[in-house]
Amino acid sequence: MANSLEMVSISKHFGGIRALENVGFAAHGGEVHALLGENGAGKSTLMRVLSGDHQPDTGEVILDGERLVLSNPRVARDHGIAVIYQEFALCDHMSVAENIFIDDLAFGRRFIDWKALRSRAAELVASLGLADLDVTRPVSDLSVAEQQIVEICKALRRESRVIVFDEPSAVLTERETQQLFRLIRRLRDEGVCVIYISHRLEEVFAICDRATIMKDGRRVDTVRIADIDQTRLVEMMVGRELAHVFPPRHATIGAPVLEVANLRLPRLVEDVSFTVRAGEVLGFYGLIGAGRTEVMRAVFGADRMAGGEVRLKGRAIANRSPGEGVSNGIGMVPEDRKGQGVLLDLSIATNIMLRRRNDTTRAGGVLNLGAETEQVNRMIRALRIKTPGGAPAVSTLSGGNQQKVALAKWMATELEVLILDEPTRGVDVGAKSEIYQIVNDVAERGLAVIVISSDLPELIGIADRIAVMRAGAITGELGGDEMNEEALIALAMGVKQ
Ligand SMILES: Nc1ncnc2c1ncn2[C@@H]1O[C@H](COP(=O)(O)OP(=O)(O)OP(=O)(O)O)[C@@H](O)[C@H]1O
Ligand SMILES: [Mg+2]
Repeated sequence: MANSLEMVSISKHFGGIRALENVGFAAHGGEVHALLGENGAGKSTLMRVLSGDHQPDTGEVILDGERLVLSNPRVARDHGIAVIYQEFALCDHMSVAENIFIDDLAFGRRFIDWKALRSRAAELVASLGLADLDVTRPVSDLSVAEQQIVEICKALRRESRVIVFDEPSAVLTERETQQLFRLIRRLRDEGVCVIYISHRLEEVFAICDRATIMKDGRRVDTVRIADIDQTRLVEMMVGRELAHVFPPRHATIGAPVLEVANLRLPRLVEDVSFTVRAGEVLGFYGLIGAGRTEVMRAVFGADRMAGGEVRLKGRAIANRSPGEGVSNGIGMVPEDRKGQGVLLDLSIATNIMLRRRNDTTRAGGVLNLGAETEQVNRMIRALRIKTPGGAPAVSTLSGGNQQKVALAKWMATELEVLILDEPTRGVDVGAKSEIYQIVNDVAERGLAVIVISSDLPELIGIADRIAVMRAGAITGELGGDEMNEEALIALAMGVKQ
């Protein structure tokens, strides 16, 4: 069969960590094949072997009967293998068009037809539903979702036999995800072998034909999606049955902690007001570009506000930098974990202890290493971060585990307000429920918690109230039983009910 891919007995070690052990699986053209497993199961590592980024210790990759030696990413690309990574590899200062055609540009061709290049880029981008995106804009200006689409365009610009999507939808909203699915179906019907990695099982059922489940660096099984249900899939991934995903809420909601009035941001946000109380979880929903992240960045101090007022426990504050935000008791876990959430090259321990404001671990200015290690280990255990300890660099962790470090950093800090921007993006089902539990605990400790999420069932499950933003303004707020998906989507899309 055309475009048949086989990975045979792949093993890969990193120092003492066995990331992959004799993993084998086969996928073919005309199917969407899911790769499932908990954070750290080895999915991305397996795909990095396929993309030529990692050399396996043992094993083979066979494409259409031909045994490939994938000594570097270029070779893999030339064989028609495209991998779209969880963490993007875009050049920030270059334009959208330049990024899409970067391989051609890197060849150092003397004559580049910029006009043709831009119009081809615009065509590709439009075919993914971003007709309005100006392809001459630098990538650094784009939202995470838009950057994702640029990554996908990079893969589509050449004929690919195998295309791997490593958690593509994690940064996309519902509508964008549907667009992506149409594209994936089209690729599948054209005979491309599509490999799809996601922690959202609904998506796997919507788009995938078969699934290979991995656990602890091994393959558990390969199944046909039509023959299996979610519960069984989760069991195979986690190795146990998951009880309830959303913890029951017991928090007593107290006095207002954070009050934002008439917040304005240049060009983006117009007159946003909201209040969060002690012990309350306020959800923020909206389509990408609605301004949720921007509002929170301004409240935190990462961006300047053009007008409006922020009060913390009744006292007017104006955070001009994240540092000021932190000393005023506000913490924020950003959506872009690579850019702002964690320092990848530093150790897990350093990252976790980075924001510590109130010192339990210093006495007279002297660092108490024992106490620090204890605190770090407690965080690692509480969040089930998959690591032997605090010493390894964050870059060596799987994507979902990096997200947990970003969270742990704030858990170790004394705060009044905690803002979480897409906290469970890329996090596996088991760890998701752990994060929900943490959100719950933090609220029960009396903090005011704000959660931005594009995952509606998640927001409804954890929030007491949900504010919906559209085009830079709050279009509505729903609480209690009024929080249902239809009403929230209608508010987000500006549909009158
Ligand atoms: N460069 C590296 N150095 C050391 N260890 C690594 C490296 N890359 C991956 N690992 C380890 O290999 C294991 C598998 O990681 P991998 O990123 O493949 O997981 P994953 O299944 O993609 O998880 P996620 O769902 O969180 O993205 C993890 O224990 C991870 O810490
Ligand atoms: Mg991964």
